[in-house]
Amino acid sequence: MSVLLDEVQAALAPERGGVFVDGTVGRGGHAERLLDGGADRLIGVDRDLRALALARETLARFGDRVALVHADYRDLPSVLDAQGVASVAGVLLDLGVSSMQLDEAGRGFSFRRDEPLDMRMDQSQGPTLAERLDDVDEQTLADVIYRYGDERKSRRVARAIVHARRQGVLATTGQLAAVARRAVGGPWQRIDPSTRTFQALRIWLNDELGALEQVIGRMWPRLQVPDGSGRTGGRLAIISFHSLEDRMVKHAFRALTQGDTPAVRVLTRRPIEAGEAEVAANPRARSAKLRVLERMGA
Ligand SMILES: C[S@@+](CC[C@H](N)C(=O)[O-])C[C@H]1O[C@@H](n2cnc3c(N)ncnc32)[C@H](O)[C@@H]1O
Repeated sequence: MSVLLDEVQAALAPERGGVFVDGTVGRGGHAERLLDGGADRLIGVDRDLRALALARETLARFGDRVALVHADYRDLPSVLDAQGVASVAGVLLDLGVSSMQLDEAGRGFSFRRDEPLDMRMDQSQGPTLAERLDDVDEQTLADVIYRYGDERKSRRVARAIVHARRQGVLATTGQLAAVARRAVGGPWQRIDPSTRTFQALRIWLNDELGALEQVIGRMWPRLQVPDGSGRTGGRLAIISFHSLEDRMVKHAFRALTQGDTPAVRVLTRRPIEAGEAEVAANPRARSAKLRVLERMGA
């Protein structure tokens, strides 16, 4: 279920027309809303081929108003170049993992299944989680689990993972969940104690924060400059689900507004969050935070 649909539409104002980019098109829910809302064209990017296949179905009725590209969103400028597009009216990034990735068999994202430790968003390239775990040192792993997972017992979990891997008893998500649960110990509360470890390893393996850090600086110059008729400039909207991501977006946006003649302004002093009804219908929306940046005239 796509989060903050109305809020994204209001933020990106597709009724202005023009070219829009969805850098995390997923199954195409937000993209569909932008096209129905008046976007002339939409370039949808995802690094997951399966997501692109689903987006192709969702967006089929829009015909050649849509181009779908298999790429990492950090490479959006070259994707736009290849499409012959210089500047765009709006860019959306809806970060993180999709429910399709969590639910689909054979992906290795979820502790609810027992399958090989893959966890790659792009299964066409790069090492799997199992391969990365073979050559990571315990200290690095502990830092990853602490930083990206907020796991207080990160050292214990890292030690247990490295140990189990060496013993040859850590090849599946079920085994990883069991190792993490045992290392964290204690009674379960509402959340499975291996959740934090899975989240941390996913962010690390897919370099999710690295991509985010790069894309903001690379893409704001591609947002349309307002044409002097009072029309608004191109906008960049980012939905994050993790406090580290939200902080990164907030600081990157703020840094761009410094100086005597900033080229952009931030439209969201505070992040936009989901309303009660949406959270009730879709618990994942609870942690979603939307921030929006707009290009200004010279
Ligand atoms: C939360 S889902 C997006 C859902 C989508 N907005 C919708 O309405 O269906 C996030 C998507 O971003 C993709 N993704 C994550 N990091 C990416 C990156 N660096 N480059 C391209 N796609 C990425 C994932 O593969 C996943 O399909």
